[in-house]
Amino acid sequence: MRVITMALTLTLAATAVALAGETVTITLPPESIALKAGAGLDQTQTACRACHSLDYITIQPGGGPAQWQGVVTKMMKVYGAPISEQDAKAIGEYLATHYGPAQ
Ligand code: HEC
Repeated sequence: MRVITMALTLTLAATAVALAGETVTITLPPESIALKAGAGLDQTQTACRACHSLDYITIQPGGGPAQWQGVVTKMMKVYGAPISEQDAKAIGEYLATHYGPAQ
């Protein structure tokens, strides 16, 4: 029970820091996946490897704009990815262009 209380306290503390708008720096493990070059690559790399490897993108069957925008929206709304509307649009377009049905 004490462990649970401790974990809960830490979670709340982390949430409080995030809500206060402070910058939190984390070091991510090395990424072995190189995404294709193109407009929107920077935003995609930054936003999409915070929680999992970029191979989540490259192993998907190619999707059109609606499919990829849906994935980006899901990451934001369901999993809480902190992505601005502007970046979300750029990422959706990048993914549909470089990881679309024809690629
Ligand atoms: C806040 C954490 C987080 C971020 C940031 C994030 N994802 Fe995810 N993603 C998840 C979780 C959680 C899952 C589902 C669990 C799993 O399979 O690991 C997932 C799964 C996926 C999947 C597998 C299919 C699916 O829908 O479950 C794809 C594709 C994907 N993410 C793409 C992206 C893209 C593209 C971005 C950048 C816009 C992104 N993710 C950013 C958390 C995140």
